[in-house]
Amino acid sequence: METKKTEEEVEEIKEAVKLEASEIEYVSYGGEHHLPLIMALVDSELSEPYSIFTYRYFVYLWPQLSFLAFHRGKCVGTVVCKMGEHRNTFRGYIAMLVVIKPYRGRGIATELVTRSIQVMMESGCEEVTLEAEVTNKGALALYGRLGFVRAKRLFRYYLNGVDAFRLKLLFPSPLLHPSLATVADKDDGNWHNDHIPIEECSEVH
Ligand SMILES: CC(C)(COP(=O)(O)OP(=O)(O)OC[C@H]1O[C@@H](n2cnc3c(N)ncnc32)[C@H](O)[C@@H]1OP(=O)(O)O)[C@@H](O)C(=O)NCCC(=O)NCCS
Repeated sequence: METKKTEEEVEEIKEAVKLEASEIEYVSYGGEHHLPLIMALVDSELSEPYSIFTYRYFVYLWPQLSFLAFHRGKCVGTVVCKMGEHRNTFRGYIAMLVVIKPYRGRGIATELVTRSIQVMMESGCEEVTLEAEVTNKGALALYGRLGFVRAKRLFRYYLNGVDAFRLKLLFPSPLLHPSLATVADKDDGNWHNDHIPIEECSEVH
């Protein structure tokens, strides 16, 4: 027998059903009016607290790497990133990724991340990294599907005491998701031979 649903659950289902008939619009960071939207989403869904200075650092310096997803004017997802030199490597970094619950499981996060990674590849990045909680099955599955491997385990990395996996995507990667492979194919000049062997990356100690 089906259990009684809470009002919140009903609302979520309604929104999810409405989504079938409509489209999600993806836009890159367009200015200060987008900042509260990004902050509201990240603050509500990620365990790590960030100050407004952290958000500004990312979106002011790399506006082209942050994207927002809208459904009928409502912001339903966002990704925030940066890129730069790191130990002789030019690399991209995914700082925040969130899709609100009623909109999950529809490829929105994949699309957001793919857009950022495409800009990173076109800008000459050799790799992309990020950290995810070791308990975050959804995020680990999503990034695994895109070709990211586990490079390191970081002990009690987050303020809540949870360990993190550092995930890494190397360009061009044989594991690349089809949506990224098209861009990598065009990018032959950026091939690098100093890749970490897959066994080293994926083994967690
Ligand atoms: C992680 C998150 C961004 C995924 O957003 P999403 O829009 O649902 O992701 P997608 O629909 O693009 O998922 C793509 C793939 O990732 C995997 N995946 C995503 N969420 C999953 C989950 N909860 N459990 C298992 N696999 C999951 C699946 O393989 C999925 O493909 P499939 O639907 O074809 O099976 C979203 O759940 C979220 O905002 N979580 C809270 C914040 C967070 O954890 N951010 C990541 C920090 S590193």
